[in-house]
Amino acid sequence: MTDSAADIQEILFTEEQITRRVRELAGAISRDYAGRAPLLVTVLKGAVYFLTDLTRALAVPVEIDFMAITTYGSAKAQSGVVRLIKDLDVEITGRDVVLVEDIIDTGLTAGYLLRLLQARSPATLRICTLLDRPYRRILETLDLAYRGFEVPDRFLVGYGLDYRERYRHLPFIGVLRNEVLVSDAPDGPPSGANAAAAGLSDP
Ligand code: IMP
Ligand code: MG
Repeated sequence: MTDSAADIQEILFTEEQITRRVRELAGAISRDYAGRAPLLVTVLKGAVYFLTDLTRALAVPVEIDFMAITTYGSAKAQSGVVRLIKDLDVEITGRDVVLVEDIIDTGLTAGYLLRLLQARSPATLRICTLLDRPYRRILETLDLAYRGFEVPDRFLVGYGLDYRERYRHLPFIGVLRNEVLVSDAPDGPPSGANAAAAGLSDP
C-alpha cells in the first residue's frame, strides 16, 4: 500500500466540488439557524475534515464537540450495536444540535447516535451528512436534513474517509482500487461498499 493518489481508481468529487457543496450546506444551515448558536456534534474521526470546513463557511456562531465510538465485532454483521468510547464534553439539553457525519450507509450508526442524543432532550436535533448511500440503508426512517452528495456502491476514501486509517488526508473523494482492498484481506475481496466492513476501525 503506497497510501497515495495512485491507489485511487477514479475521483468522484474534486476538492473544488467538495468546497462548493460544503459552502451550500453551510448556507442552508446558516439560514435555518439564524439567531441561534447550534452545537455541531461529530463522530471521530472521518467527519472531522468535513466539520472544520463546514464551520468555516457558517454565518452563525457554533460550538463543536466530539464523540468516539467503536462497532462490536465485524462491521459486516451490521448489528448496529455501537460502544461509546468518548462522550460529549458538554450538556446538550435544550440546545440546537446538529449531528455532522461523513457518510451514511446503512444508517445504523447514525440511528444509534440519534437515540443516544435524543434521550438527553436537545431543543432540536438534525443530521448533516456530506455523503449518502441511500440504497444500502437498513434504518429507513432516518431523516437527513442536510445532505451533500449521493454516492454509488463503491468503497470511497479521502476527505476524511479511510481504509484502515489511511487515505484520510487526500483532498478529494475517490474510489479505492480493488487491488488495494484485496491485498491484505484473508478471505477474498470485499465487494462494493461492503468493503467498508473490511476497512473499518472507527465507523
Ligand atoms: P453506517 O451508516 O452505520 O453503515 O456506517 C457509516 C460509517 O461507515 C461511516 O461513518 C464510515 O466510517 C463508514 N463507511 C461507510 N462507507 C464507507 C466508504 O465508502 N469508505 C469509508 N468509510 C465508509
Ligand atoms: Mg465515520
